[in-house]
Amino acid sequence: MTMLNVALPKGRLGEKVYGMFEQAGFECPSIRENSRKLIFENPEKGVRYFWVKPSDVAIYVERGAADVGVAGKDILLEYAPDVYELSDLDIGKCRMAVAAPAGFQDDIRKTLRVATKFTNIARTYYAGIGRDIDIIHLNGSIELAPILGLSDVIVDIVETGTTLKENKLEVVRTIVPISARLIANRSGYKFNQAAIERLVAGLTAQKEENA
Ligand code: PRP
Repeated sequence: MTMLNVALPKGRLGEKVYGMFEQAGFECPSIRENSRKLIFENPEKGVRYFWVKPSDVAIYVERGAADVGVAGKDILLEYAPDVYELSDLDIGKCRMAVAAPAGFQDDIRKTLRVATKFTNIARTYYAGIGRDIDIIHLNGSIELAPILGLSDVIVDIVETGTTLKENKLEVVRTIVPISARLIANRSGYKFNQAAIERLVAGLTAQKEENA
């Protein structure tokens, strides 16, 4: 039997995702043993899991190192990897938003300075509304940028809104809702179609149960 290679996003979301795969019939008990190993397999079920950094899942899948994986819609929009997006898992829900200091007023005579990790999403959004911007690419702690005068606004992920609130920022506009998606490598899909279809059916059944 060929093994289905699965890239899981390391962290809390990934653990939830593994639980869903387990219920879909792709269990691999060794993954639950606390260890620092990154690869786990269950030959009986024909599945091999590996933990990767969440933002790297799409790269593993696009290049075929993994047949399937779970990635946030934010990463799919930002990097547009050439993969199949098979289903929305309805978990890891948050939104991509523009945020600014409370009371912010946009002065359209000036170029808007936008700090973000998601430069493509930000550029596409502002091009769509015809607003001139200056992108400031940061790798984290984006909320600091408007506080220190490095930018006027930020484009970032908002989940509970706590980070914004604690830094006296507020959402100006939601750009797009985000959630975790099951993705597949284009040629891996053909080789593993039966297993992947079983997986998708199992995951869909759980979504319906939870709805
Ligand atoms: C994201 C985002 C915000 C935070 C929002 O960061 O960049 O900082 O979550 O969550 P909240 O609305 O629930 O406060 P994440 O924890 O993903 O890590 P990052 O700093 O690496 O982006």
